Amino acid sequence: MKNVGIVALGKYLPERQLTNADLERMVETSDEWITTRTGIKERRIAAAGEKTSDLAVKAALDALKNAPVKAEDIEAIIVATVTPDGPFPSVACLVQKGIGNHKAFAFDVNAVCSGFLYAMTTAKQFIATGMVKNALVVAADRFSTLVDWKDRNTCVLFGDGAGAAVLAPVEEGGILADFLTANGEGASLMYVVSETSRTPCDQALEVGRLPYIVMHGQELFKHAVPGMAEAVDIAARRAGVALEDIKCVVPHQANDRIIASVAKRAGVDKERFFINIDKYGNISAASVVVALCEAVEEGRIKKGDKIALTVFGAGLVAAANIVEWSY
Ligand code: ACO
Repeated sequence: MKNVGIVALGKYLPERQLTNADLERMVETSDEWITTRTGIKERRIAAAGEKTSDLAVKAALDALKNAPVKAEDIEAIIVATVTPDGPFPSVACLVQKGIGNHKAFAFDVNAVCSGFLYAMTTAKQFIATGMVKNALVVAADRFSTLVDWKDRNTCVLFGDGAGAAVLAPVEEGGILADFLTANGEGASLMYVVSETSRTPCDQALEVGRLPYIVMHGQELFKHAVPGMAEAVDIAARRAGVALEDIKCVVPHQANDRIIASVAKRAGVDKERFFINIDKYGNISAASVVVALCEAVEEGRIKKGDKIALTVFGAGLVAAANIVEWSY
């Protein structure tokens, strides 16, 4: 089995910023409530006509710009998304077209906010077993299309964006351990009511409101904290790495209070967590890879550092990886 690492990262955030002040004009909320309950100050919203595949292609091209692999030589493309342009073709095939690649196999993964780590771990297996030489892993979501902009319980939380990573064999380190888990018993804690949820005679749903997110926030909070803390702990034990040797933890960015509680539960100082939720809110699968990209850009992660990635999402799904940074 080869060592597999992340050899390049990229991101794309739409230009339009939606601030807490903007939301104060849309629903009964306040900057004070959003900031103290979530840590979010603003989020990015895709332009009209800017599809998930557009976000994904831009993030992929950004990652490829810095990669030791050319776009045409990519052999696998996996995209984590829950907001594809349509039921088919996959966003991964649209990314293949967008980057000008003719060699890769391509498919999408749905693991909501855990999607990037699910996709990355899947890609890693293909490379480690020698089936492909490299892979492009993208996480892209346009949650603004799922949000009911009249529902203050959910509309303040989410934004749009994309992140991408190129994976390839590395001499040393790389992705040292993985942990993926799911608990479908908790599926009813967060779901989307959409046109496909309706039966032909269903009069109960407000058709004009579709789609919208149903979220039991407090219950999810109670699952998210142990979910992410235990995922890090299990992955670290699998990697044989002590938590005190982890330089930086990059978590899913759902709520600053969740991150604080994960830090406390895991026994890791919150200062070692990378947090950018204030700028982007929760961008679903893209959150962790956009945060990782910025942590590297800001010099918080350097070659040889051992880091942890940990995520949690609707499903319920959680995942973590321990990575020894390769560049
Ligand atoms: N502005 C002002 N007041 C609000 C707002 C708002 N935007 N939203 C809710 N409130 C009110 C509620 O109506 C409630 O009022 P009441 O006491 O009069 O009934 C009060 O604020 C408290 O509401 P809670 O839901 O108890 O607020 P809480 O502190 O739990 O924060 C939040 C809500 C931010 C959603 C939190 O529960 C959370 O982050 N949950 C986890 C989310 C998560 O992890 N999701 C999974 C990942 S996402 C994914 O997979 C795609």
